[in-house]
Amino acid sequence: MSGDAQARPAGQTPAPLLALRQVSKSFGAVEALVAVDLEVHAHEVVALVGDNGAGKSTLAKVVAGVLTPDAGLVELDGETVQVPTPSAAHALGIATVFQDLALCENLDVTANLFLGRERMAGGLLAEGEMETQTRATLDALNARIPSVRTPLAQLSAGQRQSVAIARTLIGSPRLVVLDEPTAALSVVQTAEVLMHIERLRDLGLGVVLISHNMNDVRAVADRIVVLRHGRNNGTFDAASASYESIIAAITGASHAGARG
Ligand SMILES: Nc1ncnc2c1ncn2[C@@H]1O[C@H](COP(=O)(O)OP(=O)(O)OP(=O)(O)O)[C@@H](O)[C@H]1O
Ligand SMILES: [Mg+2]
Repeated sequence: MSGDAQARPAGQTPAPLLALRQVSKSFGAVEALVAVDLEVHAHEVVALVGDNGAGKSTLAKVVAGVLTPDAGLVELDGETVQVPTPSAAHALGIATVFQDLALCENLDVTANLFLGRERMAGGLLAEGEMETQTRATLDALNARIPSVRTPLAQLSAGQRQSVAIARTLIGSPRLVVLDEPTAALSVVQTAEVLMHIERLRDLGLGVVLISHNMNDVRAVADRIVVLRHGRNNGTFDAASASYESIIAAITGASHAGARG
């Protein structure tokens, strides 16, 4: 009972898993993020949408410890945290799939899942253990990959995305950030990745889904957060918001706080 840093008065809603508070980031004269707020809860998929250059990938990189914000706070469970490096993010339970995937073509599925975090046994790679966990992780996502020893170069774009998402689950993350996971995929492959995202939510994770595709977003997101020119421009309940109201927030036909 003692030592519970999460203890709060009865009746108060728990702090979000992740919160960004007034986060700003500039590149020279370019204001990529300006006082951005974002909250993500466990068991929740939050879609982050916005036009090209709206600041979505910059936000993902701040959460992933790739970029340090100029101002503002990152909180986990209501506590301010520092995320100075990708390994710090990993240690905090934050996993990210970037727009370019960053997988190794010449390595097989298992080697990609454990890249940089290889399991050892008696001074040798624990190949059997890593294979077993790779298979279990792919199964948990319902990913259809015939063999965990297939080189990445032989997989389809959709299967590669499955591998990239499975890779995030090594190390038991609490929050997964996916930057445009369906951008290069066919209809069938997209449906499969959306299923993976639902599985992540079912596993109790918080998910940030960055996407241009309104159909994808409305299919799996619980909430939709719009960025425009690096600023918050509306938050929508995915189940009730109209397509038009979300598009209006993205294009600037409506302003912050607008609701569908
Ligand atoms: N490393 C960088 N150096 C300079 N400017 C950058 C850098 N990264 C991003 N920017 C600028 O910051 C702004 C936001 O870029 P960001 O990549 O976050 O947008 P985005 O919403 O992810 O766009 P897209 O939908 O095209 O992926 C853009 O104007 C971009 O040119
Ligand atoms: Mg981007």
